Amino acid sequence: MPEKQTILVTGGTGFIGSHTCVELIEQGYDVVVLDNLVNSKVESLNRIERITGTRPRFYEVDILDREALERLFAEEPDISCVIHFAGLKAVGESCKKPWEYYHNNIAGSLELFDVMRAHGCKNLIFSSSATVYGDPEFVPITEECPKHTPTNPYGKTKTMLEDILVDLSAADAEWNIVLLRYFNPIGAHPSGLMGEDPNGIPNNLMPYITQVASGKLEELGVFGDDYDTPDGTGVRDYIHVMDLAVGHVKSIEFMAGKHGVNVFNLGTGIGYSVLDVVHAFESANGLTIPYRIKPRRAGDIACCYASAEKAERDMGWKAQYGIEEMCADSWRWQSMNPDGYGD
Ligand code: NAD
Ligand code: UD1
Repeated sequence: MPEKQTILVTGGTGFIGSHTCVELIEQGYDVVVLDNLVNSKVESLNRIERITGTRPRFYEVDILDREALERLFAEEPDISCVIHFAGLKAVGESCKKPWEYYHNNIAGSLELFDVMRAHGCKNLIFSSSATVYGDPEFVPITEECPKHTPTNPYGKTKTMLEDILVDLSAADAEWNIVLLRYFNPIGAHPSGLMGEDPNGIPNNLMPYITQVASGKLEELGVFGDDYDTPDGTGVRDYIHVMDLAVGHVKSIEFMAGKHGVNVFNLGTGIGYSVLDVVHAFESANGLTIPYRIKPRRAGDIACCYASAEKAERDMGWKAQYGIEEMCADSWRWQSMNPDGYGD
């Protein structure tokens, strides 16, 4: 491999992808970004450049477009590893548009994997999710925890793509694959220049809270207070997006000289309830978040948090940011960019 490895980041203008690009560039990697901009803006590349002083080479390409993928790999022959973030990720939308989700996430990924192997690039880091554990058999969730069928097509694409990658690797020992199961990514780059820019009314907790804080939304609905958890509200393992970004760089280092499939949870190992997050946000930012208890949201589980021991043991990765920093950075991003990256 060349000294300054070239990494292709699919979905690199998106939330987690853009933060990972910053970390990759800061660690000396040469970064190529592919994205079709279906859920992100080119402005995030300007922000990456402002933070790092380097603009990644950008290809506006759909992973379903095989010819465009072929051209990209021909133009970038030094790509040694692909970090594959590109995909659709809205749980509710996936129930309404299952075909679109399976087509984009599964068919698109199959094209990508095929073009990769045709160009002799078989090093892959795949963005998976804690959703593959379904309603987990135990917490903290270790990587050995049995997978259960997710309740929605989005989640199923993650389970299916993991299975596909395991099969590819079983048939061809040259594949070197890391499956990263993210827990609940929140936070933003500490500069306030980059963060999550959801379309429309957010579905996820933290972007909803920041929009209540900014006055865009009136109050937070807390989905259920009768779960079997300490305060009755759902418990999750929130992880700062910059910690996730570092997890990808550690994965590249871990992959050196390896083969097969390795699976890692990326979480903090700590569970916070919805009300814990509300109160942490209030105390980190000196704000009050009005909320009202609402009925449970369909498909939600009571409690989900990681055992993060394997990532620490095998690749020396451990989350550094706490919940207060996650809340402060989320709010800095929202307050500095009330309209996200703009139109
Ligand atoms: P995101 O929507 O911000 O980023 C995904 C990017 O992929 C977007 O920029 C979008 O434009 C691009 N994309 C989608 N379909 C494409 C296609 N056909 N061709 C090219 N580009 C395409 O989402 P994110 O939060 O950054 O998530 C990144 C990855 O991590 C996704 O695969 C997601 O499923 C996974 N993940 C996210 C979370 C989370 O909570 N954010 C949790 C677990 C896993
Ligand atoms: C959801 C997805 C999961 C996906 C993840 C990405 C579902 C069922 N699961 O996880 O597949 O990988 O997003 O981050 O959608 N909450 C409220 N009020 C709100 C929003 C959320 O009370 O307005 C609660 C939820 O009930 C849950 C917690 O906050 O207890 C976190 O919710 P959310 O941020 O949507 O993440 P998950 O449901 O864990």
